[in-house]
Amino acid sequence: MGSHPGLLKPVPFIWLDGKLVDWSAATLHILSHSLHYGCAAFEGIRCYRRADGKSALFRVDEHIRRLFDSCQILTIEPPFSQEEIKRACLETIRANQMSECYVRPLVFLGEGGLGVGSLDVPTRVAVAVYQWGAYLGDEGLRRGIRAKVSSFTRGALNSNMSKGKITGQYVNSVLAKREVMRAGYEEAILIDAQGHIAEASGENIFVVRHGRILTPPLSSPILAGITRETITLLARELGLQVDERTFGRDELYTADEVFFTGTAAELTPVREIDDRRIGSGEVGAVTKRIQEAFFAVVKGAEPRHPEWLTWL
Ligand SMILES: Cc1ncc(COP(=O)(O)O)c(C=O)c1O
Repeated sequence: MGSHPGLLKPVPFIWLDGKLVDWSAATLHILSHSLHYGCAAFEGIRCYRRADGKSALFRVDEHIRRLFDSCQILTIEPPFSQEEIKRACLETIRANQMSECYVRPLVFLGEGGLGVGSLDVPTRVAVAVYQWGAYLGDEGLRRGIRAKVSSFTRGALNSNMSKGKITGQYVNSVLAKREVMRAGYEEAILIDAQGHIAEASGENIFVVRHGRILTPPLSSPILAGITRETITLLARELGLQVDERTFGRDELYTADEVFFTGTAAELTPVREIDDRRIGSGEVGAVTKRIQEAFFAVVKGAEPRHPEWLTWL
């Protein structure tokens, strides 16, 4: 993650296979299946300390449901229910006495067989929590970042199971992100096999043009981002029009505003793409309005969408 907050600060406990263990004891065997073939499902969830001092997990039910969807795609059966993994998230945050953190559940295949299709390997579950600041930097949140279209194509619909948050698929994102970071940019934008803009390496993408908002449809090879859905709804609640349709990189270059959405990146404005200034080069008015609405919902004192919050 280069200059961005990436180094993990250990906390006392990690939840592993049903119980809390010391951070340093949460290890696995080198011949674990997932390590070799990338068959594991994961999530990223944020717990926010809100303006009234209380903490809440944001849309945890939707995240756990997507974790189980990812497992369904992989034909992996988690040995815990959705409710048990949700409880594990809450228990791990409390045990580590955290009021604001990032939560990383992981369902993975352990040690047993190393055939690509081995069925006789145990399915294991971990939940880790750690401090994670603004993924694309505090300055990025405030002033916008510089992005570059990667030379790596987003995996086609029948190659990558884009609706699954599956570890092995992130090689594509890592290649794209490293490529553009080495070239001095902060985030990579990936194009799909048809030439349409898909998403960023770890975020969904939105474009604002003539006051209307545009984002690639879910029929594109993109993750069905929970922040994407949240932002779409909040924008519509503000009276803004959001269209879901495919578009090419020319519409990115000529946009008035562009922003990324994701649990880690929250709502990060993009001020430059491929060395072209986007709009005025400053954070645009529409982006700012939606960003404020987003932070009010996740961090504000008044729960405008109480159904999205699970209190600690
Ligand atoms: C490739 C990709 N797209 C989009 C997102 C945004 O998804 P969400 O808003 O659910 O965090 C993420 C992050 O999880 C991601 O890794």
